[in-house]
Amino acid sequence: NTGNAGNAAGDPQHGGGRTRRSAHWFGAEGRSGMLYRSWMRNQGFGPEVFDGRPVIGIATTWSELAPCNSHLHRVAEAVKRGVWQAGGFPLEFPVLATGETLMRPTAMLYRNLLAMEAEELIRANPLDGVVLLSGCDKTTPGLLMGAASVDLPAAMVTGGPMLNGKFQGRDVGSGTHVWKFEAEIKAGRMTVEEGYAAEGCMARSNGHCMTMGTASTMACMAEALGMQLPGSATWPAVDMRRMEVAQQAGRRIVDMVEQDLRPSTILTRAAFENAIRTNAAIGGSTNAIIHLTALAGRLGVDLNLDDFDTLVRDVPTIVDLMPSGRFLMEDFCYAGGLPVVMRELDEAGLLNSDAVTVTGRAIGENVADAVCWNTEVIRPLAEPLLPSGTGTAILRGNLCPNGAVIKQSAASPSLMHHEGRALVFDSPEAYHAVCDDDDLDVTPDDVLVIRGAGPKGYPGMPEVANVPLPAKLLRDGVSDMVRISDGRMSGTGFGTVVLHVSPEAAVGGPLALVRTGDRIELDVPGRRLTLHVSDEELDRRRAEWQAPATQEDGGYRWLYRQHVLQADDGVDFGFLRGSRGSEVPRDSH
Ligand code: FES
Ligand code: MG
Repeated sequence: NTGNAGNAAGDPQHGGGRTRRSAHWFGAEGRSGMLYRSWMRNQGFGPEVFDGRPVIGIATTWSELAPCNSHLHRVAEAVKRGVWQAGGFPLEFPVLATGETLMRPTAMLYRNLLAMEAEELIRANPLDGVVLLSGCDKTTPGLLMGAASVDLPAAMVTGGPMLNGKFQGRDVGSGTHVWKFEAEIKAGRMTVEEGYAAEGCMARSNGHCMTMGTASTMACMAEALGMQLPGSATWPAVDMRRMEVAQQAGRRIVDMVEQDLRPSTILTRAAFENAIRTNAAIGGSTNAIIHLTALAGRLGVDLNLDDFDTLVRDVPTIVDLMPSGRFLMEDFCYAGGLPVVMRELDEAGLLNSDAVTVTGRAIGENVADAVCWNTEVIRPLAEPLLPSGTGTAILRGNLCPNGAVIKQSAASPSLMHHEGRALVFDSPEAYHAVCDDDDLDVTPDDVLVIRGAGPKGYPGMPEVANVPLPAKLLRDGVSDMVRISDGRMSGTGFGTVVLHVSPEAAVGGPLALVRTGDRIELDVPGRRLTLHVSDEELDRRRAEWQAPATQEDGGYRWLYRQHVLQADDGVDFGFLRGSRGSEVPRDSH
């Protein structure tokens, strides 16, 4: 048995009964075929794996440096079981693990690198389909972006959230309670020792953040887009039903290869509309705006910032999870998970129910029978946690000509229309250096401007916009202030924070021209963000403005600054937009 995978008739780029893509490697004659097959045998595979069966890549963002993803090798084993069961040949391979907690200056700097690596590895190797294993914030969009640009059949399995944090007899949310505890320690309501004890209690199992932060949001987005199996987003990482859905995904990807079901069929404008509305219903992270925009750019789907406002105006928030609400992902899971939310949306006519998913069926069909087991956690659409139109809002005005974002559900109602004096900091560090000074000239009515935190400016657009309030105001009991930044906010964060101001200060956006003492008006109901300074004065300041010096003269950061797009374009690299397909015309030997 030479293990040849059939002849080369038909379109080699497609499955569906035709010669598979992988056959160009494992089915090759002569020296090349021998090279391709022989070295694979050193892993103990018998010749039967080269009989033309679908070869399934399992792209894993496993890493001990990405704690949220450190169990993904076990998830991969479950996927492999499913692939073998369905007659495929699974091969696991590592891709960049962008862990949110440890990477400096910010994991976001590396999302595009992950996407680029995933794209190139999927294309360069003898794969017919791929399962994407993600967890921590950037790993989900990074993998989806890379897979979309190759457009081979692909299904995602997210690693699942941690168990609920438990501290001093109550539930605490990863991320969200870090901000809360920091403020409580600063205000003297919690001891430093209690803070240390809380660390181990907040993150007490494998998995990603169990608040409705960016990781949980993006897991839900992957499911809402139709890229992972129904119910996958919410199973806790250590719940063995997570392994069961992973195994199912392994079986399913083999069928997807047979059916030639590709990301471009699933990730349509209709799917993105579903994801955007679902994000409003779950009270999801503002980061989803950037990641969905970038993903849409890979597929040529026409999506713009205003879609994130207009599409959600009639969608209430019905999932009561921190940071906007009370519960955590474990509760969301046991209440029925995302299918319940999408069924509610569908029944209200707010879902494009025909959108195709990895199941091969329409999303409406997938969720039709979803049962809610706890209406406190997932409320009926008619009795929402937050009324329609209180999710993310897109702001326009002379301070953000290309838009800015505010998450109303994380903000204070009393600040939704607010005018105040600008207090300007050129970097987050400049603010941190003085924010605890008792003689800082600041009042609760001031508007804190934190600039230099955009895609090019930091670089990497970090999650620094929700800076803690000045210590002296915290001690006075002040709990919120308007903050404005060209950076992002953690999905677990909260506060009246205007984010993603575009263009950013580092490229000379109007944010760069604000000076301490200027008046700024935030009008969320009117969707306006206004700097009350005359056009003539702004022109004068613009003429004087000098771009901040950058240190990089090479390396990845240099590449990043050269090519990164602004927030309203998803912070992708310009040269990575679009799909480049799976074809590799040349051989390697
Ligand atoms: Fe990884 Fe929150 S830090 S998901
Ligand atoms: Mg985050």
